[in-house]
Amino acid sequence: MTDVKALVSQMTLEEKASMLNGLNFWQLKGVERLGIPSVMVTDGPHGLRKQAGESDHLGLNAAVPATAFPTAAGLACSFDRELVHEVGEALGDICQQEDVSVILGPGANIKRSPLCGRNFEYFSEDPMLAGEMAAAHISGVQSKNVGTSLKHFAMNNQETRRMSVSVTCDERTKREIYLKPYEIAVKKAQPWTIMCSYNKIGGVYSSENHRLLTEILRDEWGFKGYTMTDWGACCDHVKGVAAGMDLVMPSLGDKADADIVAAVKDGRLSEATVDAAVERILTITYRYLDNHRKDPDFSLGAQHHLARKVARETAVLLKNDGMLPLKASGKTAFIGAFAETPRYQGGGSSHINSYETTSALEAVRSVAQVEYAKGYIGDSDTPDEALLAEAVALAKASDRAVIFAGLPDVFESEGYDRAHLRMPENQLRLIDAVAAVNENVAVVLHNGSVIELPFADKVKAILEMYLGGQAVGGAAVDLLYGAVSPCGKLAETFPLRLEDTPAYMNFPGDGDSVEYREGLYVGYRWYDTRKMAVRYPFGYGLSYTSFEYSNLKVSEDTLSEGGKITVSADITNTGSVGAKEIVQLYIASAHDGVSRPAQELKGFEKVYIAPKQTVTVTFTLCKRAFSYYNAGIRDWYAEDGAYELRVGASSRDIRLTAKVTLTGAKPLPVKVTGDTTFGDAMSIPGADKVISELLSQLGGVFAMGGSDDEMTKAMLMYMPLHAVGSFAGESFNEETLEKLIRALNEIQK
Ligand code: BGC
Repeated sequence: MTDVKALVSQMTLEEKASMLNGLNFWQLKGVERLGIPSVMVTDGPHGLRKQAGESDHLGLNAAVPATAFPTAAGLACSFDRELVHEVGEALGDICQQEDVSVILGPGANIKRSPLCGRNFEYFSEDPMLAGEMAAAHISGVQSKNVGTSLKHFAMNNQETRRMSVSVTCDERTKREIYLKPYEIAVKKAQPWTIMCSYNKIGGVYSSENHRLLTEILRDEWGFKGYTMTDWGACCDHVKGVAAGMDLVMPSLGDKADADIVAAVKDGRLSEATVDAAVERILTITYRYLDNHRKDPDFSLGAQHHLARKVARETAVLLKNDGMLPLKASGKTAFIGAFAETPRYQGGGSSHINSYETTSALEAVRSVAQVEYAKGYIGDSDTPDEALLAEAVALAKASDRAVIFAGLPDVFESEGYDRAHLRMPENQLRLIDAVAAVNENVAVVLHNGSVIELPFADKVKAILEMYLGGQAVGGAAVDLLYGAVSPCGKLAETFPLRLEDTPAYMNFPGDGDSVEYREGLYVGYRWYDTRKMAVRYPFGYGLSYTSFEYSNLKVSEDTLSEGGKITVSADITNTGSVGAKEIVQLYIASAHDGVSRPAQELKGFEKVYIAPKQTVTVTFTLCKRAFSYYNAGIRDWYAEDGAYELRVGASSRDIRLTAKVTLTGAKPLPVKVTGDTTFGDAMSIPGADKVISELLSQLGGVFAMGGSDDEMTKAMLMYMPLHAVGSFAGESFNEETLEKLIRALNEIQK
């Protein structure tokens, strides 16, 4: 192992400063004198995007051939840690082949609004699912001695003005929703690097945010790797390094190195800060270099098979009125341009030069005979009357029609947000027209994010493939014809319409300012708390079999500090085909005083169950799962009392419930001042005595009702201590107030 500390000690200040600024678009600098080579970092994250020629960060110029796996939006629907780990391993393998030290991703940003143009690159609206998926991805890649760059840290939840917008969000929401996926991924998988976001948080660029990059990320969570800017996210290099930003990408040129040297010389930046950053970068670089090896058996062909398996596991069957799986007999029509040229990845920096693609039309040849009509132009939204008429005629003459539809490239991409959730006009017209002449219509969807489905009641089946990667066509055929059962579930809610979505009133903000006014109520936390109707709920997905849930067991009735409980349930496959089920555990809290979403996901397991077999699924919970982030104590806190454990097949299909009681919580400290209400003061253990004593001495209105009676106390609930004087006459003066405040603060020590 290379002795990095020894290397750093031999470097001049100029050499060290140069390490904090990239060499070019994709490479870090080396130091020839000391034999430190330059290494490459590159996109990612659903395949490798390594540019051999001209560089760009928008996926425009060519990259070496690689495997395009389903994008994060689909991967998360697998709810499958092992599968995502396997994808990570494959990415690690190709990085080793192509001499890449770090692949840029995964992206763990929360889907705040379905309009975010980059939602196809993000996992979920739920922080636990996003964090678990990111952790699996990271540990898969890194098991191959290649680094990841967990991005975009943090609160990059829109593309509109992504490089200048400032996010305003309360601390509790940040911790519980937006930072949570990163916390999970850092603690579970220790990404080798983290990429900051472009935007500002509370007026401070993420690239210069000491609280984010140092206090939270390193001091609280224990992140050990190096941080890098998103491409072009550096505003003030010296400020960035001081805040904990180790590497600027792409290169800012020589002046940036000189700026760091000057800042050290004139005392604005300590040399120890520079040393620490260089040491972190080199530790990671040598972790890769010391373990760099190419596998003689590496094959892109094998990865194509994996891509097909992954796409099968990520697809979600949204509707099936008995039409699927399809029969091979009879006359089947495949309709829609995406059957021939599937849309399987998104636009921008994650765009991969996939070396092979399989369309459904190609894949179906080995399974059944179908006839094809194009129906619409794939990259347009204008109906083509001739194509439409041809498709309708074919549908009329067929026993069944499968329409391949979704969103064209231009409808969703990095760099801009969507304006609406509609599918293109030409595709909607096609679906309506085909459904009018044939009652057996299935729709296969290729889209990276939520869309409105106005035709849902007019067709018999809907299979959501998301952006399913280069083998999506093969996977769609496997699922349509029942080679395997669909087993994905939605990692995001499909609302009925855009106007129902949580951030609708505040997205993408006003100018360079966006306020997350919906707070914690993102995704199903919003729809479930408001009991709103949705098209398809979070965690929902059908299968070719059915599952029965029974025998919920909780290991203990109570849970105290430092303790654990296990929750188990039996799941039986009651149908006739083997299939996987995703079992979800939600917790509901019914406590007053602190607002909580109706329920929150706290566990999920995916299991394969053979027909008529039963499998027991187990979850382990500790107090943190019941906690909310209390900004006052800057820590997680769970009130004592009863909580409901809900085990179900989706957020809206809870099959089993049980109760557990939390005990032993330390009372929250109350910093008593004149503004503290009696009610809050009364929550302090021992305050009852102090307050009763005071009340018994008061005159004015307090003397009338009897000082200690319940009614007086109830009325006092929301009265601040300082206001007592107004009602108690001379019996309460400033001195009495001071004494009371002191006594109440004293008893908490
Ligand atoms: C994107 C990153 C990407 C980088 C390099 C940026 O514009 O936000 O996700 O990794 O470019 O291409």
